[in-house]
Amino acid sequence: MKSILSQLKTAVSEALIKAFGEDLKDTDPLVVPASNPKFGDYQSNVALSLTKILKKNPREIAQSIIEALDIADTCENPTIAGPGFINFSLKPSYLATLLKEVQQSDRLAIEPAENPQKVIVDFSSPNIAKEMHVGHLRSTIIGDSIARILEFRGQDVLRLNHVGDWGTQFGMLITYLKEVYPDALTKADALDIGDLVAFYKKAKVRFDEDEAFKEASRNQVVKLQSGDEESQKAWQLLCEQSRREFQKIYDILDIKLTERGESFYNPYLADVLTALDEVGLLEEDAGAQCVFLEGFKNKDGDRLPLIVQKSDGGFNYATTDLAAIRYRIKEDQAKRIIYVTDSGQAGHFAQVFQVAERAGFLPDDVEVVHVPFGLVQGEDGKKLKTRAGDTIKLKDLLDEAVNRSRADLEKRLAEDERQETADFIEKVSQVVGIGAVKYADLSQNRTSNYIFSFDKMLALQGNTAPYMLYAYVRVQGVSRQGGIDLSTLPTDTPIILEEAAELTLAKHLLQLSEVLMSVEQDLMPNRLCEYLYDLSRKFNQFYEACPILKAEGDRRISRLILADTTARTLKLGLSLLGIEVLDRM
Ligand code: ARG
Repeated sequence: MKSILSQLKTAVSEALIKAFGEDLKDTDPLVVPASNPKFGDYQSNVALSLTKILKKNPREIAQSIIEALDIADTCENPTIAGPGFINFSLKPSYLATLLKEVQQSDRLAIEPAENPQKVIVDFSSPNIAKEMHVGHLRSTIIGDSIARILEFRGQDVLRLNHVGDWGTQFGMLITYLKEVYPDALTKADALDIGDLVAFYKKAKVRFDEDEAFKEASRNQVVKLQSGDEESQKAWQLLCEQSRREFQKIYDILDIKLTERGESFYNPYLADVLTALDEVGLLEEDAGAQCVFLEGFKNKDGDRLPLIVQKSDGGFNYATTDLAAIRYRIKEDQAKRIIYVTDSGQAGHFAQVFQVAERAGFLPDDVEVVHVPFGLVQGEDGKKLKTRAGDTIKLKDLLDEAVNRSRADLEKRLAEDERQETADFIEKVSQVVGIGAVKYADLSQNRTSNYIFSFDKMLALQGNTAPYMLYAYVRVQGVSRQGGIDLSTLPTDTPIILEEAAELTLAKHLLQLSEVLMSVEQDLMPNRLCEYLYDLSRKFNQFYEACPILKAEGDRRISRLILADTTARTLKLGLSLLGIEVLDRM
């Protein structure tokens, strides 16, 4: 099913051609949801945009469009407002027909992507032997939700974990590994180094205090990069250790990712330089190979270089990203590449994209886009820390969310004198605790900084996961109490939309497709959260205004269908945010 918005856009486009000729076939019909329900459901602002081209006043243009519009089945007579806005009000009969389709569809009639594309979502991407920090948590949660939404729309999504598994720090780590576990490399079984982050810190201390260690580390990098077997083995050992730690977090969060770390692009780094040189972009600056950027200047007003090979011959983060772009376009055939990192890397991506563009690495039909997000802050507005002032471990953070949600649940059970099994308590605490962390992150406009507060995210009131999960339990409970298997109803069972609250709920249910398409475009999952929150409120208003179980005949069935469709919409929407639902909690 096409979304209502898509259908109205098509109708307005056709009317434009009919009224003013083929010249206007590519004009954007400028249809948007109405800013105020008082003006109807949707509006088009296209007449105002055409005054110069058509040399007529906008109200006159709007009038011609209305006369050419073929929407009698779907809308009441459109009206012109203000300087020339066209307002559309949907007919209840049309809403009922669409809702019927939604009810009968597994995908709730969400419009599938018209031309599915290969899309890469590059997200999470922590660094080996370093802490996976709250920034990576945000990237993981946001990236996963974006990937889920695109997948559901039918895009061919490749989820890539661009792990930081390469770089000069490995010289130091391997040297230290050999020092403290001299036989680690000869033993067959996996070595458990324990806390790799602590290991990193100790290695760093050695590196800073001892010249000979430093020298050995430098040699070690060269050995590793030239493919020396023993060094490769040590490197793999370190990577595996980190991978195990990362996987624990992905398991808790239910995240699927394909690891393709920086090291993967090693064989392609030299080619990047050759390619840049061929198009005349490569310049030498103080021994380093670089590309001078347009529009990036230092404080003296000099052009800023993007270094692609350091004076010691080493390649860097930017070189790897250039190689990755080429690989992803050429080998993966990606048409859209999405990078989810904190806003601090906006400059890096702008520079890499610019160089890729100027070097001809980016065909016209490929889009590269950085999806930046703000910092995670503690409730004091400062960097998130433990009470003792240490950096927070993600595992501890997630455990605490689950523990707190378990405590809340046990308190409620005690108050209501309810008995539940240990399995039930465990399941509910997990879903609510993890769901709360995810929802709190996703419901924010990602570009702003985000204040991490267990109390807020676990609150039962407001736009939170517990609230949404409760809403689902309630709505789904109502439709269950109806005692009718809705999937077996005759297809001509009427949907009756008479009360204002019924109409409002029906319209909202029909907007899911539009919302998902807008998230697909702007990559703002908070729109989906807002949509779901509004849905639960509109359901409450409907529930208060319209008796469901006490209604009779067709009206009762119709209302049960509304409740059931609401429940399924909540469930689907939450699943696209990576959040599971519960039937009871
Ligand atoms: N490893 C990087 C970090 O922790 C993020 C990598 C993002 N992806 C990329 N293609 N640069 O900051």
